[in-house]
Amino acid sequence: MDSETLDRLVLDDRAQGSFRVHRQAFVDPAILELERRAVFDRCWLYAGHESEFAAPGDFVTRKIGGRPLILVRDRQGAVRAFLNSCPHRGNLVCREGRGTARVFTCFYHAWSFNLDGGLAGLPGEESYTASFDRAAMGLRPVPRMESYRGLVFVCFDADAVDLATYLGRARERLDWILDFGDQDVEIVQGAQAYSMRANWKLLVENSIDGYHAMATHQRYFRQYLPDLGMDSAAAVMPRHDTQGVELGNGHAVTEKPKLPAPLMTNAKEELAAIRADLERRFGPERTRMIAEFDRNLFIIPNLILISTWRTLRTFYPVAPDYMEIDSWALLPRSDSAEMRQKRFQNFIGFLGPAGFGTPDDVSGLEGCQRGFATVKEMPYSDISRGMGRARPTLIDELQMRAFWRRWHALVRGQTGPTDCADRPQDAVAAE
Ligand code: FES
Ligand code: FE
Repeated sequence: MDSETLDRLVLDDRAQGSFRVHRQAFVDPAILELERRAVFDRCWLYAGHESEFAAPGDFVTRKIGGRPLILVRDRQGAVRAFLNSCPHRGNLVCREGRGTARVFTCFYHAWSFNLDGGLAGLPGEESYTASFDRAAMGLRPVPRMESYRGLVFVCFDADAVDLATYLGRARERLDWILDFGDQDVEIVQGAQAYSMRANWKLLVENSIDGYHAMATHQRYFRQYLPDLGMDSAAAVMPRHDTQGVELGNGHAVTEKPKLPAPLMTNAKEELAAIRADLERRFGPERTRMIAEFDRNLFIIPNLILISTWRTLRTFYPVAPDYMEIDSWALLPRSDSAEMRQKRFQNFIGFLGPAGFGTPDDVSGLEGCQRGFATVKEMPYSDISRGMGRARPTLIDELQMRAFWRRWHALVRGQTGPTDCADRPQDAVAAE
């Protein structure tokens, strides 16, 4: 793709306060091919949570960045991530979604592999010549794998920066989300797996888009929450105490003060105990940030943590107009059974195929995708809301601009950090 075409995909005029994204980015198969190499082959990708495969031999299989992977605990309990393809002739070595194994045996010709990936055995080994390199015939580890507080990330770029550097300023927000409840959160077994006939970047935007909530999710905010006894005006009014923040290199967060939670009225004591424990561990200021705000945290390119529903989700493109989404509940291990139940009800009540929110969003995003058929006559989307504001709120669009700025740098092959702020950071620093 020529550089002129690439350059015009994002028109970012910081001086005039205008920001536009070309809709070709959502429909062109050539862009998706470029994204596979420039974004998904270079960024750190969330692959799973250590609690999902806790004991030696426990494993899960995932499709991450287009590749089938096995995440497994070896005999010593260490986390390992392998490409799920047989070194013999390519078959998926593990065909189950999760389980516990002593060895992995390939379906096709029954080569078997130890939990550390080494070739354990193969039928008729004597038929191979001396040039058969047994040591090289193990499962192939992913080029990079690192965990952050139980979240396992992989990267297909051997030269990528380390994970902590990659997370950068997003790390503190991630800590605040993970610290809630206790230090030991776990993925509740089971996942929501669904798909949309929409480009994956529409869900990036939607996941950090406070602007759509009141229009798209009217039924939830104007009918359902008031039915539960919640003051819906408080839930929906755009408030000055909300914010959208860019966290460097495309990461971003939306934040708003937590609403009183009517679902939790029977659990006041338990919540008070959690709060006291947070204060003891972190002091009052950090506790306030952990306990008094809801936030949607976006880690580029495709990880969203939504604290309100204690959920974590990823999504991958299958085609320019089709994506697959996985979503999990990430809950404190120390919860009482009652609290676990309430949090879980809360999770499935809004998000997922049978929630109040997700079907609305699917409808919205699929509608955008259908609208993009007019790309020739209507080439650009506008993402400039709040561009002139010193402190954008969550119903502004700074958080989306942050993503698009980094995305634009990546697809143009730029290396090194990207300044994703509305105003160049050196100008801000000089004031
Ligand atoms: Fe796996 Fe042949 S492809 S044993
Ligand atoms: Fe929504």
